[in-house]
Amino acid sequence: MTTADDTRARTGENTTAVRGPLVRFLDDPFRTGRDAAFTYTPDALLICTDGRITAVGDHAALRHRLPAGVTPAHYPDHVVVPGFVDTHVHGVQTDVMAATGADLTGWLERRAFPEEERFADGRYAREAAAAFCDQLLRNGTTTALVFGSVHPGSADALFEAAARRNLRIVCGKVLMDRNAPDALLDTAQSGYEESKALLERWHGKGRARYAITPRFAPSSTPEQLEAAAALWREHPGALLHTHVSETPDEAEWARSLFPGRAGYLDIYDHYGLLGPGAVLAHGVHLSPAERDRCAATGTALAHCPGSNLALGSGLFPLRETAGGPRPVTVGLGTDVGAGPTFSMLSTLYEAYKVAAVRGAPVDTVQAYHLATRGGAAALGLADTVGSLAPGQEADFAVLDPRATPLLARRAARTEDIEELLFVLAAMGDDRVVRATYVAGRLAHDRDTAPAGRGEGAP
Ligand code: GUN
Ligand code: ZN
Repeated sequence: MTTADDTRARTGENTTAVRGPLVRFLDDPFRTGRDAAFTYTPDALLICTDGRITAVGDHAALRHRLPAGVTPAHYPDHVVVPGFVDTHVHGVQTDVMAATGADLTGWLERRAFPEEERFADGRYAREAAAAFCDQLLRNGTTTALVFGSVHPGSADALFEAAARRNLRIVCGKVLMDRNAPDALLDTAQSGYEESKALLERWHGKGRARYAITPRFAPSSTPEQLEAAAALWREHPGALLHTHVSETPDEAEWARSLFPGRAGYLDIYDHYGLLGPGAVLAHGVHLSPAERDRCAATGTALAHCPGSNLALGSGLFPLRETAGGPRPVTVGLGTDVGAGPTFSMLSTLYEAYKVAAVRGAPVDTVQAYHLATRGGAAALGLADTVGSLAPGQEADFAVLDPRATPLLARRAARTEDIEELLFVLAAMGDDRVVRATYVAGRLAHDRDTAPAGRGEGAP
């Protein structure tokens, strides 16, 4: 039987293709080992129809499947990788990145909250959302789990900017009804209603998904956490996005505000905020029992090493968490603006370094997995993006080992693909991202994109 898809693929309608060295991340190397998790094809062909991958593999074996008239974009001497998945990033903190001299609470008070107050202005929110989405694309990030500010308009602006670029974002307006400046407070009721309206407007529209987003336990009353859980029960397909155990002081503060609870994670557990679809940023200071509880409930963690180092928050126990006897699903987050970069390449290198400092190293395949398929799994999207498997959405980045003179020198000495991938992460950033494709279409081309000027247009 011939389907409409087959016909469209044969005629080339809506079909695109790329050719070049290509890597795929097919399983979790923390659980299965490297060989089942990673494949490399030195001369690959990737064919996409209607935004999905219809074939991927050796060019010689697949080229006969190219419809007449479709010429692949050829990237010899580059590396095609799955589009990066940023599992924790603030869409309203771009302009306070790279701040110095503060721990978490000082940074929130002096940098994050004053900036987030500006998102009451819809024009400001729309300009910032456009610049934010452009940064994702120029860094090869095609899927992101994004915090807005307390203002519903901030989430609308992010969803609109992402939709215009066909980015896959999961976003939510922040819920916080205490321990923040008055201008940033909602109430349990208003936060519930605003979130519900946004969810109904955006969840499942195109590539958008909604995340119910209590900022963290210290900035929500018990009533607000109850309301968040009620909304999640009413919409179980939505995600739940918050922070947990980022610093020891914050964990102590959370416990003091909820004295009846056994620990920080138990606050969320008690209100029904753990489970598949819950993504908790940081978790640096969770106990082994709390990590086991994440595993048992299917709760994912977003490891944000760049942010943890910048704020002095601590060193996340990656190997124990992702690779222990009861493994937790772990993705990687830039945590912009506490994190100093949008680059998931730089962030996966930070994860590598943090693991090395702790004496529990991870390898290149594990680090890339976190930035791609692991992040997709954390967001419940492992079948949708992150692996470059047939049937998945065709989101990918093309990395350039000759992006800078120094990188070219070093890349020339690499002996295998893993060494090259490591060098790209350790020495690279957005300069290395030659092109970003979303749903099979070129969405960012480094060599034609305006540098600075022009970015941030809606
Ligand atoms: N905890 C609560 N809010 C925030 C935030 O905006 N950034 C970080 N890094 N941690 C938080
Ligand atoms: Zn954060």
